[in-house]
Amino acid sequence: MAHRIALNFEDGVTRFIECDGNEVVADAAYRARLNIPMDCRDGACGTCKSKCESGRFRMGDYIEDALTEDEASEGFVLTCQFRPESDCVISIPATSALCKSGPTVFEAAIADVRKLSNTTIGFTVALDQPEALSFLPGQYMQVSVPGTAESRAYSFSSCVSGGRADFLVRNIPGGLMSTYLSSQATSGDRLTLRGPVGAFYLREIRRPTLFLAGGTGLAPFLAMLEHLDEEGGPAHPVRLVYGVTRDADMVEVEKLARFAETMANFSYDVCVADKDSAHGLKGFVTDHFGAADLNDGEADVYLCGPPPMVDAVKAHFDRIGVKPASFHYEKFLAAETTT
Ligand SMILES: Cc1cc2nc3c(=O)[nH]c(=O)nc-3n(C[C@H](O)[C@H](O)[C@H](O)COP(=O)(O)OP(=O)(O)OC[C@H]3O[C@@H](n4cnc5c(N)ncnc54)[C@H](O)[C@@H]3O)c2cc1C
Ligand code: FES
Repeated sequence: MAHRIALNFEDGVTRFIECDGNEVVADAAYRARLNIPMDCRDGACGTCKSKCESGRFRMGDYIEDALTEDEASEGFVLTCQFRPESDCVISIPATSALCKSGPTVFEAAIADVRKLSNTTIGFTVALDQPEALSFLPGQYMQVSVPGTAESRAYSFSSCVSGGRADFLVRNIPGGLMSTYLSSQATSGDRLTLRGPVGAFYLREIRRPTLFLAGGTGLAPFLAMLEHLDEEGGPAHPVRLVYGVTRDADMVEVEKLARFAETMANFSYDVCVADKDSAHGLKGFVTDHFGAADLNDGEADVYLCGPPPMVDAVKAHFDRIGVKPASFHYEKFLAAETTT
């Protein structure tokens, strides 16, 4: 049976290949024309050493010089000896350019643009070749701004369904993409999307997990939750704390309510920083999680939001004196210009 292997390159580019349990990943990568690092192909040199982030596998023969016991216990593998027994995610210690790969280009059309609130816009794209697109929930694409040579990074806010995928965008007055989406976009407009990109993606849920979203940083969590829902729900409790500045920034809450209804292990809270808000829960996300949510450090934390939020959450870990087992974050940096 063929398994889906995500190869994550150092520059954040991800490529998916198919590999069945009788083949080693290195051979499957070569078949897909990806020159991942390789030398002896025999488990002797260690050149192909990579890190398996998730999934089950069998390793063939190799010597200690190529991969030590300690490295193996930390999740390092030799791709020339790696046979998958499930879908896997492997981090390759090289850039995609070095491996003669790179982000893939997808053509799409705008299918729908929705003003979700005064500050937030949702849009849906219909992909020309949806079957060619695979991504890990949490990853993003570089989306072209129609009529310009610019593009902007946007995280998927859904899985691909019926050839369509959603995005969630903060409407920044005067912003290039914001202006296009709020005043010009119409169904049928053509877009180019490059990717998928990013190391901020959902790993296997192995312990209690905390999702922290700031503003439109909710987007990747919507894709992650949809994925978890499709998988029958998480095996351990997942709690989302979604923080917004003002009431108008609070969007897609009905989707969160639906996920909480269908997934027994999922719960969420929304908090608003504005003191004059009519909302019940006020303050920042750091006011609404504590040591108990971090389960004595046996918890994974994912955060997506503006850069100051990342610093505030790190300072909060220090204040409460508990560090999570892992902390994955994505900063929605302003205006990354790519032409
Ligand atoms: C990895 C990644 C993923 C991202 N995913 C998303 C996403 O899913 N949803 C989303 O809404 N955004 C996301 N962003 C941010 C997005 O790429 C754009 O930067 C943002 O939408 C602004 O684009 P614009 O063309 O409208 O404004 P621009 O024309 O780029 O900017 C106009 C002005 O607004 C300022 N500005 C830009 N962004 C902000 C901001 N957030 N707050 C205040 N001022 C700002 C700029 O500095 C500039 O002065 C992501 C960014 C990164 C790096
Ligand atoms: S290529 Fe030498 S150990 Fe894999």
